[in-house]
Amino acid sequence: MTLDPLIADLEARRRAGASFEKLLEVAVSGLHESDPRFDWTGIYELSSDNVLRLGPFLGAPTDHVTIGVGKGVCGTAVAERRNINIPDVRVVGNYLACSMETRSELVILIRRGERIYAQIDIDSHRAAAFDEEAVARVQRVADWLAELYESR
Ligand code: SME
Repeated sequence: MTLDPLIADLEARRRAGASFEKLLEVAVSGLHESDPRFDWTGIYELSSDNVLRLGPFLGAPTDHVTIGVGKGVCGTAVAERRNINIPDVRVVGNYLACSMETRSELVILIRRGERIYAQIDIDSHRAAAFDEEAVARVQRVADWLAELYESR
């Protein structure tokens, strides 16, 4: 299996001494540019006071710079300690609208075992944008970032 080019880029930058913040930015921009269906791509970090705080992102600015655990799709993923793939946000009761154009959303946790550090949140204007291949690609980046968070 060939290495994911984004992971290879992240590895090379890490070896060259890139900062933690820079690596997060590269992960977000690399994912965002990897798929035309990704209209908003960002990282929310879980802070020690149990609130998700918006980190680097690409796409339209959002009002949701902090999200409580249990709130919206992002906060629910943390509360239920699971990834969430929503093919149609219009049928989700607790969805926090970032853009009226958003139709589907994917949240993949950045975690090592029980420890949740952050999450990758991606919105698409298309319904059911996140197929198996897209989810696997985002998961690989989340797993790489989890190791980065752990070693920070
Ligand atoms: N839709 C998310 C909020 C974040 S914005 O989409 C960027 C939610 O329901 O938690």
